[in-house]
Amino acid sequence: MAVEQMVIGGVVAMTRDGTMGREGALPWRIPSDLLRFKRITSGEPGEEHAVIMGRETWMSLPSRFRPLPGRSNLVLSRTPDFVLPGAEVHSSLESALSSCQQQSITHAWVIGGREVYASAFDHLQILHVTWVEAEVDGDIRFPEFTLSEWEIVEEESIMVQGDDHPTTYVLFKRRGESPVWA
Ligand SMILES: NC(=O)c1ccc[n+]([C@@H]2O[C@H](COP(=O)([O-])OP(=O)(O)OC[C@H]3O[C@@H](n4cnc5c(N)ncnc54)[C@H](OP(=O)(O)O)[C@@H]3O)[C@@H](O)[C@H]2O)c1
Repeated sequence: MAVEQMVIGGVVAMTRDGTMGREGALPWRIPSDLLRFKRITSGEPGEEHAVIMGRETWMSLPSRFRPLPGRSNLVLSRTPDFVLPGAEVHSSLESALSSCQQQSITHAWVIGGREVYASAFDHLQILHVTWVEAEVDGDIRFPEFTLSEWEIVEEESIMVQGDDHPTTYVLFKRRGESPVWA
């Protein structure tokens, strides 16, 4: 049975200038944000969550966390017949979203990288951003977007022992969208 209104959201951690990756990995160690990521993308009992990511992001996950447990893992790749144990491989975002609908997924989370965020951006109803409050070198940036098209629903400053940098967590919703995630 298809879900009538599947939430499609994005989750990203980036610096204020959009830096989010370096040499195929995260350019920081922020355990509190990894916990938040897990909480957001796993959801509550009774919900069915999926994560949609590019092939490079899949490869960047430590092998013991692949597939991300408790969530349907969908990986985008244009390589025909690519097989990844524990994940569905799709050659387009549309195909991945359609598979989520067919599986009765309630929440589909777009988790990167750059090209996947760019392809999915217009579909996103909500966006969880962790702003990393530091200047960090990197080679991958989040696509530019217009902040004024989004409104802040929640904002929290975080400085936890063990994190490389302080962060500010913000939940955005697209202006004009009703809060379907509640
Ligand atoms: N800070 C964060 O929140 C965050 C989140 C995610 C990733 N990252 C970082 O970002 C980097 C990885 O991201 P990336 O941008 O390099 O790569 P990526 O988007 O994860 O993967 C790129 C690959 O995905 C496939 N792909 C992407 N869009 C597609 C589409 N629309 N249709 C079909 N296939 C598609 C292609 O695979 P094929 O080449 O197989 O065709 C493409 O080469 C790493 O450094 C990672 O740590 C950071």
